[in-house]
Amino acid sequence: EAAEKAGYDHFMLKEIHEQPTAIQKTFAGKLMELEGTIKMDELYLTPEQIKHLRRATIIACGTSWNAGILGKYLFEKLAGIHTDIETASEFRYGNPVLCGEELTIAITQSGETADTLAAVRSSQSYGCRTVAITNVVGSTITRESSSVVYTRAGPEIGVAATKTFTAQLITLYMLAIYLGRVRGVLSAEEAKNLIVNIKRLPGQIQKILNRKDKIKECAEQFADKRDYFFIGRYLNFPIALEGALKLKEISYIHAEGYAAGELKHGPLALLTDETPVVAIATKGHTYDKILSNIKEVKARDATVIAVANEDDTEIEKYVDEVLRIPQSHEMTAPILTSVVLQLLAYYTALANDCSIDKPRNLAKSVTVE
Ligand code: G6P
Repeated sequence: EAAEKAGYDHFMLKEIHEQPTAIQKTFAGKLMELEGTIKMDELYLTPEQIKHLRRATIIACGTSWNAGILGKYLFEKLAGIHTDIETASEFRYGNPVLCGEELTIAITQSGETADTLAAVRSSQSYGCRTVAITNVVGSTITRESSSVVYTRAGPEIGVAATKTFTAQLITLYMLAIYLGRVRGVLSAEEAKNLIVNIKRLPGQIQKILNRKDKIKECAEQFADKRDYFFIGRYLNFPIALEGALKLKEISYIHAEGYAAGELKHGPLALLTDETPVVAIATKGHTYDKILSNIKEVKARDATVIAVANEDDTEIEKYVDEVLRIPQSHEMTAPILTSVVLQLLAYYTALANDCSIDKPRNLAKSVTVE
């Protein structure tokens, strides 16, 4: 096992560090920068079918569900497709209203999650085509879906998903760009710009990994706290949910991810100087809004740890700690923030001496209902 960990203390840390190469494999051969499009032959959808898509439904569980929320935002923004995101265990017992001109997208790292498989079968009974996004070649979902897009992140051993999550996000960006180009919603120029920014991600992630000591220090400083909040808006909202999920999975600290605008509808009542709030405050069109949320939080004496861009000097005035991501496009920054939050969770769990690769009561793949 020590050999497999390649010198890292845990598989999780190794897998966090593998992300620059893992995501390169995810997008290898797919980014057509000159043409401003994406190669997605494995979808097996005709341009006519894509143009006539009326709706997409994303189905997933756990971390994959968090990726799916980002997917919804991307499909709506880049491809103009109304998209719903459903938790598989709810979808399968609900009363979905679906028809043949809709696409179901199942996201599942393992391809074996029982609820996701059942939800896919249910959606197929309405005549929907199903696209599976998975990391495991030959997994059950690949046999049950109309088409498969592999994330190609390599095997993941740590129970808490890391590199497979960022690989899912990259896949969703590529799918949204592809659909957006075919539907004529996204121009070649806009697509090119996004592609250039996707290509920059491996180098930018490496920069974060090179500076992980700062994240470790921050994690250690607050490792004794028992309640954490993670807040973000728009594309950063699912990243806040995933940051909270990572922390609770491996450190057993109670953590909640919230859409920052929802704070005033409940969580504000819980904030004290004992509840650190991680605020994703990277540059983008919701930046000013998150700054106001940060001020609301500070007014309740909570400690704020912000994730912000490298050159943001304003943020320091309002928060207690700043964890930096390299300069990046608003659309691709969430991937960088994810890596910061993975490291924050990892070092918090390490400081609490937790069983990081095999957290209590959790399984890598949940094959029973
Ligand atoms: C389990 C794992 C999670 C994962 C979830 C969904 O709960 O511990 O890390 O996100 O299952 O798994 P899937 O393989 O469908 O993505």
